Order: sequence, then C-alpha cells, then structure tokens
Amino acid sequence: MLTALLANSGASYWMPEDASTVAPAVDNVFNFIYYLCLFFFVLVTVLLVLFVMRYRHRRGQERTATAGHSTALELTWTIIPTILVLVIFYFGFRGYLDMAVEPPNPYEINVTAQMWSWSFTYPNGHVDDTLHIPVNTPVRLVLSSKDVIHSLYVPAFRVKRDVVPGRYNRFWAQATRTGEFDLYCAEYCGVNHSTMLSKVVVHEHEDFKKWLEVASNIHGRMSPIEAGELLSKRFGCGQCHSVDGSIIKAPSFKDLFGNKVPLATGQTVEANEEYIRESIYFPLAKVHTGFQPVMPSFQGQLKEEDVGAIIAYLKSISTHYKGDLSQFKVIKGKGGAATQSSTTAPTTRQQSDAGARNAPATSPSTTRPANQ
Ligand code: CUA
Repeated sequence: MLTALLANSGASYWMPEDASTVAPAVDNVFNFIYYLCLFFFVLVTVLLVLFVMRYRHRRGQERTATAGHSTALELTWTIIPTILVLVIFYFGFRGYLDMAVEPPNPYEINVTAQMWSWSFTYPNGHVDDTLHIPVNTPVRLVLSSKDVIHSLYVPAFRVKRDVVPGRYNRFWAQATRTGEFDLYCAEYCGVNHSTMLSKVVVHEHEDFKKWLEVASNIHGRMSPIEAGELLSKRFGCGQCHSVDGSIIKAPSFKDLFGNKVPLATGQTVEANEEYIRESIYFPLAKVHTGFQPVMPSFQGQLKEEDVGAIIAYLKSISTHYKGDLSQFKVIKGKGGAATQSSTTAPTTRQQSDAGARNAPATSPSTTRPANQ
C-alpha cells in the first residue's frame, strides 16, 4: 500500500517525489553510488569476519610470513575503482550539464530573497509569495537577494541554487507533474532561516494562465482598502510616507486625507480625492511646504482603479475622513476570484522591487478573464 503510494508520486523510501526533467538522472547517479558503497561495505565486512575466524591464532601454530608484492592484485584494485569513478563522473557530468544549460525561451520569473521570505515577480508585474509554474514548460528563475546569501532549493526538482546579493543567479527547471512541492532556503541566513519556506505549485497550462489572471487582478479579490494598502507597499510609498504620523521624507499618510495642506506657494488646499490623485500623477503641481519636490509620477504605473484604492486606504487611516468606511471594505470582484486565490494572495509586506512596477506585455487590466 505504502509502496504503491510512493511509486505513484515518484517518491521512494529515502527520496522525495521527483517532479522535474533532471530528477531521474540525479536519482540514478545517487542510487548507483549508494548501492556501490553498500556492495563494497558488505563485501569488506563479510571478508573481514571470515578472515578473522579462519586465520585466528590456534594453539601450536606458527605465524606465517606476510604476503609480498602482487602485481595482479595491485592492477585489480587500481583498474576497477578507476572504471567505477569514470562511470560516476560520466553520468554526474552529463546530469550537471543538463542542469546548467537551459532550453531556449524559458518562461521567466524574477525571485527576490530577503530575510526571511521569498517573492516571485511574474512577467506581467504580479508579485506573489508562492511560486506558480506551468507543467512541462521550461522555467527560468532569475535570483537576487536584498540582504545576505540565501539558497533556493526545491527537493522534488533536485535543483538548488545560491541567491547572492549584488548578482543575478539563474535556476531553471521543467516540472513533469502537477501538484504542490516544498521550496526551502538551504543556506543559513539568520535566526529565522528555518521559517524561510514557500511552495511551488505546478499547474496545467490553462490553469496556470487562469491563476495568473485572477491573482493579478487585485481589485477583484481585495477590498479597496486592502488593495490600496498593498499597492502603497508594492510601489514603495512607505520609503518616504510613514503611516504612523512620523516624518521620513514626506508628509505622513496618517491623518492626511481631509486635512489642510500648506503649499510651497503659500496657499492652502484640502487633501481631498482630487488632490491625492493629482499628487500621484502630477506630484509637482502642488508641493507641500517644507518638503523637497522629489516625488516621482506614477502615471502609467498606477491605473485609475489603483488610485481609487489608494484614496480609500488613505481615508481609512485618517481621522479627518468623516464618511462611511464600510463601503471600502467590500470586495467588488465576484466570488470565484476571491476564493480561488485566497491561499495564494501576495502578502502585504514590503514588495517594492522594480519588477513590480513595470507591467509590460500583459498588464493585469488586459488579461482579466471575461467571466470574473
Ligand atoms: Cu534564507 Cu536561509
């Protein structure tokens, strides 16, 4: 029963299930070396015991001279190990080349490691804390680290690659079966190294496309307040605007909405919807007095719907907003989208890497499924 289960998943008694094109070759070399060691261990142990018994000291026997040089023996124990090592090298090196040389035109996902989490940025700009990939498709992961050395390890794929700050490393794999597999950090990177875990979810081709569409559509599965908070983190607003009233480089987001803003020109305006939208798209139009006019424009990066969500978020953290917040706590998208991606929603931690800001080729707005 257990053996049947294990055989089904590609797992063995001591190997995790195998789910990538290179896994069988890795397992074969491992098993070859393992059984080779086992064979010689048993051989040597049995001979040792036999010799100890057979040639033990007996009463009345004289000690014979030890054996001298034997060319035949020397050749045997030189040639056989040499052949074995060459066989191991041949298959090991072939497997290494297969793992090192990626097929042309892989699907590319950017991976950012930091103490102690993973974030995966898809070609359309979607950021997720779980790795989702299509089955039977070569996938390239471009690895970078924000702090120390990490190592991305997927046991089921039999692939592991260091993630080094200040350089890009590559990792490629082609999944051979759908399912959920563990993803680990395999390089000690601080006190919470052991919690730096994630999952690889391998989808059928069509399911993967659907997943990406749904996951990218944050307005369909989050309330405006949640979406606004996520966007303000993903776009790095927090690098200058605090949310607790303190001043970093710009006015705090706390209690901003509805407050009076003194401008560099001497005028005063109210921080209403119009002002927030203008400040996001045309930040130099009305500059708060006492601050450098350094805010970049988010035109082309944040859509009107995104700006609306950010405004709702700012209302939710301002005591000057007197309206009804409950309307911004409702998810507008239809049921399916919200439940389907509930386990795979991006976390709301800081995700401001550049990849998230560029939404080339397929932006979420153009890939939204018709029925969601
Ligand atoms: Cu990251 Cu260990």
